[in-house]
Formats: sequence, structure tokens, C-alpha cells
Amino acid sequence: MDWTAPRHCAFMALCLLRTAAAADCPIEINPERVVVKYGDPVSANCTVTRTTRGMGWEASVGSIDMQTGPQSLVWSVSNLTDWNVEPKCYANFDTEPKQCLKKLNISLYKYPDSVSISNSPSGAMEEGRPYRLQCDVHRVAPVQYLSVSWYRFGVLLYNETFSEDTTRTPVDVSPTFLITLSHTDNKAQYMCVAELRLGPGGPPQKLTKISDPLVTTVLYKPVLKDPHVEHVLVKHGVEDEYLTCSASGNPAPRYEWKFPPGLPNDQQSQFKKGGVLMHLSPVFPGEYVCNATNSYGTVSKTFVVSLEEGRSRTTFWAILVTGIALAALLLIGYVILKSRAGKNSII
Ligand SMILES: *[C@@H]1O[C@H](CO)[C@@H](O)[C@H](O)[C@H]1NC(C)=O
Ligand SMILES: *[C@@H]1O[C@H](CO)[C@@H](O)[C@H](O)[C@H]1NC(C)=O
Repeated sequence: MDWTAPRHCAFMALCLLRTAAAADCPIEINPERVVVKYGDPVSANCTVTRTTRGMGWEASVGSIDMQTGPQSLVWSVSNLTDWNVEPKCYANFDTEPKQCLKKLNISLYKYPDSVSISNSPSGAMEEGRPYRLQCDVHRVAPVQYLSVSWYRFGVLLYNETFSEDTTRTPVDVSPTFLITLSHTDNKAQYMCVAELRLGPGGPPQKLTKISDPLVTTVLYKPVLKDPHVEHVLVKHGVEDEYLTCSASGNPAPRYEWKFPPGLPNDQQSQFKKGGVLMHLSPVFPGEYVCNATNSYGTVSKTFVVSLEEGRSRTTFWAILVTGIALAALLLIGYVILKSRAGKNSII
């Protein structure tokens, strides 16, 4: 009877006995855990710490039939390609436990063939609507140690692991991440990174594979670059002025202008054509409204144009004249006072 394989455990009582015995099974495997890249060589040394009647390795590849005499046996394979390999070292004894075994903790790994990111629904994304980013990781093993991280311009957004899935053969996984974009996300870069974290016994370097970046295109209604209302005070003597109605939007917005009543006819024609920039020459005061529109909406900007009054220069002269008059009065007053007080006065 081959007692080393649990599938041959026919009687419940026997199974229980063996489980109890495993607790003090005098077998040690060195190293306890091996992490092997698919196709690489592997070896593990099994040592029995009590006199044995025979020992061996049971495995789908590289098994060693029971041998009497040695206290240690090395299981080794020059290129391991069996995903389901589960090597067990066993030994027989004269005293209890009469038979016992230990499994080698083994992880066979493989980098994903490819990692790619996409959005669903695909294509350009509308501002404020939820979309799914999907990361397709193709043929990776063991998925239990895989972590998939999402990045925006190199900043981690979220990461996901698959620790519950104990499949040993390579699998495809496609985790998704829900995003809602704003206009600031237009031309943003998203990436996903697949990483195998194999734990103790694994390779020292990080095993990562990075997707090509996904550059997002966001469709959004026009947004003004400056405040919604702007007061434009045109200085005395200035002959012309430019009004800039700058908005971003995707698709690119078109501009429509409303001019104040009374704008001379020869100036009206350019406002009817539209455009970002408007030239006022000569400057006509009033409210100019610019509407930037695309298929997602409209944004308005109002320019309140006023002319600086001639007052400033008049005020300057008024202050100057008043000042001079005041000084003259004081002087006259002093002279009169002095002449009245006579020669011996102290003033
Ligand atoms: C296996 O381990 C035993 C006990 O530590 C040691 O004596 C023996 O040399 C090892 N065998 C190999 C091939 O490393
Ligand atoms: C992913 O999250 C885990 C905790 O859930 C954390 O330990 C790990 O560092 C994260 N991965 C990255 C790449 O930051």
C-alpha cells in the first residue's frame, strides 16, 4: 500500500493516526520553502533526524524510490515545468510513528505575458460619468501572489490582490477600477502594474510588469480661464482695447458675442463673426457678453467696459490752485499782522 498519498487513505481511523503522528514527524526539509521560476532548476534536501528503515521522495517529477541506509536525500529537477508538482519526503521507522511524510512548500511562478490597460466603454469619456478602467493581465502564476496597482501620473490610486485564488497554473485576470473624470483629467495618464509578491524564498528583485499608459480624452463643457465678470476701465486718451474671452472645452468651443446697444455699425460686424479676441477701436463703453459653447454646454463671460472720466486732471488742478491760494492768504495775513505789531514785537 502506498501510504504517502492521502488519496489512498481508505480508512478514517488510519488517516487520524497518521495526522496525529505528523505532529512529531522527525523529518526536516531544507529549504522549507522554494520559489522557482517556470523552467528553472530546483532542489531540496530532506533529512531524517531518527534512524530510518528507509526514506524516499514522492513527486510527479524527480521522485526517488525508497532507499535504506541514507539519513538524507536531495530531490532535484533541472528544469521544472510541472505546475502541479507537490513533492513529499517520506520515511519508515521501527518505532512510532512507523511512517510519516513532509510536503515541500513549493511555488512555481511565471511573469505575465502582457499587461494592458483600457477603458470601458472605450474611446473618449464624458466628464462626470462613471467609466471602468480595465487591466488585462495575461497568463500569470500563481495568481495568489499577484497584486495589480492603478496609477494616475505615477500616483497610486488603488491596488488589488487575489489571495483567495489558489490556482497554480497560469491564468488571465482582468480587474477593473471605477473612475469619474473631470475636465482636469483630459490628457491624464493612467497605468496599471502587475506585481508578483512571492514572499520568503522568492527572488530579491521586484517582479513587476507595467502597462503602456492610457491617455484619457475627456469631453467637457466650456470652462472659463478667468472670472465670469471683468471690469475694464479704459484710461483717458487710450484709443483702443482688446477683450479676450478664453475658455477651454472639448470639443473646442465656438464664441458668440453680444455688444451693448448703440455700438457704432462699423464696429458691429466683427462681433457678429465671433472669435476669442475682440478689438474695440474707438472704445465704446457698455456690457459685452461672450458665450463659449460646445455640444456639452455654454459658459458666459461679461466685460463691463467704462471710460475713465476727465475728472482726474481737473482734481489735480483744483488741489494745486487751492493750495497756492491758501499759502498766499497765510503770507498776506502774516505781513499785515507784523506791520500792525510794530518794530519791537517778537513776531
Ligand atoms: C543534506 O543535509 C544534511 C544534514 O544537514 C547534510 O549532512 C547533507 O550534506 C545535505 N546534503 C546536501 C546534498 O546538501
Ligand atoms: C497595496 O495594498 C497593500 C495593503 O492592502 C499594501 O501593503 C501594499 O503596499 C500596496 N501596494 C502598493 C504597490 O502600494
